[in-house]
Order: sequence, then C-alpha cells, then structure tokens
Amino acid sequence: MEVKKICCIGAGYVGGPTCSVIAYKCPDIIVTVVDLNKDRINAWNSKDLPIYEPGLQEIVEERRGKNLFFSTNIDDAIISADLIFISVNTPTKTYGVGKGRAADLKYVESCARHIAEVATGFKIVVEKSTVPVRAAASISNILSSNTKSNSSFQVLSNPEFLAEGTAVTNLIDPDRVLIGGETSVEGQAAIEALSNVYSKWVARDRIIKTNTWSSELSKLAANAFLAQRISSINSMSAICEATGADVTEVANAVGRDSRIGNKFLQASIGFGGSCFQKDVLNLVYLCEALNLPEVANYWQQVIEINNYQRRRFANQIIGSLYNTVYGKQIALLGFAFKKDTGDTRESSAIYVAKYLMDEGAHLKIFDPKVPRKQIITELQHPTITDCPEKARELIEVSGDPYTACAGSHAIAVCTEWDQFKLLDFKKIYDSMLKPAFVFDGRGILPHQKLLDIGFKVSVIGKHRENGGMFKSASSNNILLPSSRVLP
Ligand code: NAD
Ligand code: UDX
Repeated sequence: MEVKKICCIGAGYVGGPTCSVIAYKCPDIIVTVVDLNKDRINAWNSKDLPIYEPGLQEIVEERRGKNLFFSTNIDDAIISADLIFISVNTPTKTYGVGKGRAADLKYVESCARHIAEVATGFKIVVEKSTVPVRAAASISNILSSNTKSNSSFQVLSNPEFLAEGTAVTNLIDPDRVLIGGETSVEGQAAIEALSNVYSKWVARDRIIKTNTWSSELSKLAANAFLAQRISSINSMSAICEATGADVTEVANAVGRDSRIGNKFLQASIGFGGSCFQKDVLNLVYLCEALNLPEVANYWQQVIEINNYQRRRFANQIIGSLYNTVYGKQIALLGFAFKKDTGDTRESSAIYVAKYLMDEGAHLKIFDPKVPRKQIITELQHPTITDCPEKARELIEVSGDPYTACAGSHAIAVCTEWDQFKLLDFKKIYDSMLKPAFVFDGRGILPHQKLLDIGFKVSVIGKHRENGGMFKSASSNNILLPSSRVLP
C-alpha cells in the first residue's frame, strides 16, 4: 500500500513540525494537520506560527497551500487519509488513580473514538504521542469495538524523538526512526507503508522496525536515560561545589570515555520541558503497576534529584543574599525550559521563581522568546501559588535584559540563551545594587570577566566559599566550609 494522504491529529510541538517536514520531503503526499484549537490552526495558517523553531517558518511557507494544510475540519481529513497520526498531548494525570504520575490518555482515546466514528475503508493509525506500553492495544480495542462494516485499521507505534529548539534538524536528519507494529502480515505491510514515507529522506538502515510494545517502551526508556544523565551530572555538580572540583572539567573527563559520550552532560538548574518529567513519572507508574517497586524507586530518583537541583539553586541565591530576599529585586534571565524555544512547560525557571517569590523576592524577568502573558500565567498557576494576586505584584516582565537587571541585587541565569553571553556586563554592573551578584545556573557566562568587573559570581557546579561565591579554578587558596570538609 502506498501512502498518498496523511492526516495528523494534533497541531502542537510534535504534529506541526513533523508533518511540515514530511510535506517538505514528500511533495507527492498531501498532509493535513488538524486540531480542535481554532486559534492554533489560525496561527499555523498565518505569518506568526504558534511555536518558535529555527528553520520551521521557511519550511511551512514553502509547502503550505501546496501539499501542507492546517485545518479544524477533522472529519474530512480523517475520511480522506490513508494514514492518521495521533499526535495529541498525553500530560501527567491531575486527578483520580495515578494522579501526578500516570499519563492521561483521554485525548488519545477521544481521537481513537473519533476515527472509529468517521473513518471508512482501510486506515493505518499511528500512535505518535508518547504513551505507556500497551496503549496501542487500547487504541486497537476501541477501533475494533466500534468499527463499521466498511472500515478496518492497523495500529502502529511511531514515537517521536525530536527535541525542541532543534526540531527541524532532528526531523530532517534523525538518528533513527522507530516503527513498531504487529507481527502479522497486515501489521508488517503497515510498517512497510510508513517506512516508505520516511525512506524518502531517511536512510533505510536508520529505520528501526520492532514489535509494538518494544517501540512504546523504547520511547519512555530513551527519555528516562536522557533525564538520568542530567540528574547524574547535576548530582555531581553538588559534589563539585562542596569540594573544589569543577563540573565542566568532570563532565569533559567523564564524557571523553567513548562508552559514555560527551552529550547531555551540561549541569543546570534541572531539566524542564513537557517530556522528561512526564515520561519518567509515567515509567515509574508503569513499574508500580507491574509490581516492580525496586525499578520504580530507581527511576523516581531521577525526578528527586531534579527537584533537589531546582531547590538547591534557589537556596543558593537566598543564602548568598544574606539569607533574605524579602523585598529584594532579582533579575531572572531566561524563562524558557531551554534556549531556542518559547516553550515554558515544566521549565525549571518557574520553580526557581516560585521559591524566590515564596520568600518575598521581586522578580524582573526577561526571555527573548516567551511572551509576557505566558510568564505571568505560569507563575500564577495554582500549583505555583495559592495567591495569584500576590504573585502578580511580585513579577515584572522586562522587554530587554538591561531593564531587568537595572536596580537588581542579583541576576539568575535560568536559560542558556546565546545572547546572554554577549551582554555589556559593565553597563549591567553599574546599574545594579552592590554587592552585585550573578548566579549562573547554566554555566554559560564569561565568569572571569564578571569577577574582574566586580560581580560576586556563583556558578552551578563550581566551588563556592565566603558566603557562597565562586573562586576561580586557578586559586590555590580554596577553603572548604567546615560543614563540608571531606572525610
Ligand atoms: P501539544 O500540547 O503541543 O499539542 C497537542 C495538540 O493536540 C494541541 O494543540 C491540542 O489542542 C490537540 N488535541 C488534543 N486533543 C485533540 C483531539 N481530540 N482532536 C484534535 N486535536 C486535539 O503537545 P506536543 O508537545 O506536540 O506533544 C504531543 C505528544 O508528543 C505528547 O504525547 C508528547 O509526549 C509527545 N512528544 C513531545 C515532544 C516535544 O518536544 N514536545 C517530543 C516527542 C514526543
Ligand atoms: C526531550 C528529548 O531530548 C527528545 O528526544 C524527546 O523527543 C522530547 O524530550 P526536549 O525536552 O525538547 O527533548 O529538550 P532537551 O534538549 O532534551 O532538553 C530537556 C531539558 O534538559 C532542558 O531543560 C535542558 O535545558 C535540559 N538539559 C539538557 C540539561 O540540563 N543538560 C543537558 O546536558 C541537556
């Protein structure tokens, strides 16, 4: 079977870029991305796309109206498609059984029911969303229990591995494409049909074909391994700060072992984003449901260290500012969960801001890509504050980094935007209250230059002394605080 028409349900961070790249690489395939959210679809059809991704605008503009369409007409797109991606959100459940851990599959289920209701003929239904193992069985069940006499389905798992900020390059040149399906002849034919779409631009040996459950579990496993690396290096950053080791040097020395590799070893204020926490929690919940408590506890620690790191960074700021930030102005540089995206879902900056606001700090926040309203909404969310009015009084969103820093006691770098490295730090220093503190939660600033200007500099994973300040590595006068003297 040859796929000629694709429908993608869910025009989000995955559905939008993935289908734009498919349309770009396969001009013979008609790709329609649909969503219930009218505003989102309007934005995809406008000059201001709903998400920021380097290179995406060009690709959308190249194919939109030719073989790439964004629409709210879900039924028509389902009816005419040969292959349907389900690319809707699968957030952590906020209610009922598994609250706070299990994935909420209500959107996936609603798509399956909708497809069963309107589809006619044969369709390949592809689970693109990240789901717990055996979710495809539920989708198959819903489809087969509601199938009309004139329709039939094959369900595949094809998880997405793109990272935000690099989505277009990840999609154009993926490390691998993973497709899982049934071992039956029909299942293998469906895998082949989807594989033929990707093979228009991805080398065949990069397309991995597995059974459905391996594919579903591999996605959770990949995210868990990546998150675990960050928690591992962040746990090392705490040891570095207490001993005089430098986490950048440790990461380099460890990562040079080809068995370990040098990627994903950047110490930080903790991982954010819509995937890592959700998917690790999902894995933990799965292990508990499978009566594997030791395995569940093992993965839960990845989350615990991440929470610890966020809290630790905020505590360092409070501790260094003489144990009180009440009424003090602090500039937060960066609010997105990583650079090159405007996405703030589960951004560690939110938690750092929360801990500082809990202590009565006034925050001036600047991010080059996150709109003002989004920052305020995040910080007024009920999980962050029980008094949104009070939170509103404590937040000011600045239009540029200089305004954010002027009059502040301290700067906290929360996102690794490249532009922060090139700021005029002398100008910033002159505009701040003294002593002027910098807390570099991403390890990206020119630290020696800042020290020379007169800043008190604190860097994640570098030794601190005398009130928590970084001492340059060349110093031969490193004093370990008595509580941290090594055994
Ligand atoms: P998103 O929230 O950005 O987009 C999901 C979209 O689905 C929303 O626009 C929503 O309106 C729409 N939707 C929900 N139910 C619908 C329905 N019944 N009919 C039509 N539209 C519906 O989510 P996302 O970030 O694109 O993530 C989608 C899935 O991909 C999740 O399972 C996620 O875990 C996974 N994933 C995300 C990333 C990422 O970087 N964001 C990477 C890999 C995998
Ligand atoms: C992640 C996975 O990388 C991707 O494969 C999956 O499809 C979706 O989830 P994403 O969350 O978009 O992608 O970004 P990623 O680059 O993985 O960063 C996640 C978080 O970890 C960010 O907050 C980032 O700043 C942080 N991070 C990453 C570190 O703190 N240190 C690192 O070394 C790498």
